[in-house]
Amino acid sequence: MQVARLIPRLLVVLIFFAPGVPVFAEKLDCKPQKGRQVFARCRKCHSLTAQSPEELSKGDQDRQKEGPTLFGMFQRPAGKVQGFVYSDSMRLAEFYWEQENLDAFLRSPLTFMTDTTMAFRGIRNDKQRLNLYCYLQSVTQVE
Ligand code: HEC
Repeated sequence: MQVARLIPRLLVVLIFFAPGVPVFAEKLDCKPQKGRQVFARCRKCHSLTAQSPEELSKGDQDRQKEGPTLFGMFQRPAGKVQGFVYSDSMRLAEFYWEQENLDAFLRSPLTFMTDTTMAFRGIRNDKQRLNLYCYLQSVTQVE
């Protein structure tokens, strides 16, 4: 019963290395699960796959999306997914996405970056943006 013996150990490992999301969610008083519902508005244009457009096969749905994958979005500077064609401002951006700038961008993309090609009006509801932020933190982290 090798497997049965492994399970407790696996659990310990899982608990130990569980992503910092709960801590995070507690600190910010946000609900990642609710953010998941908000992400429904982004899903049409954004995947959460680890692969860059160049790595995906031609027929892959994620390749056809209008926006870049958001996987790893907090761990690389803005506008840097290999093979994705960004607006000039996004391509030349020299900042990382953090709660504050992402919040401003998602509230009103065109106010934040006047030449962005992200055709999205924005989310007015503060709580929804906060929940969305926590959801994105929880699903886009590169190990
Ligand atoms: C109609 C398609 C569309 C929708 C809907 C959309 N986006 Fe985008 N998004 C884009 C495009 C296109 C870009 C690239 C913008 C640029 O180059 O200026 C982008 C860029 C981004 C970036 C910057 C990515 C990077 O690599 O730095 C983030 C973060 C982002 N979107 C998040 C979201 C979130 C969260 C939502 C949902 C609330 C959303 N987007 C909705 C098309 C979309």
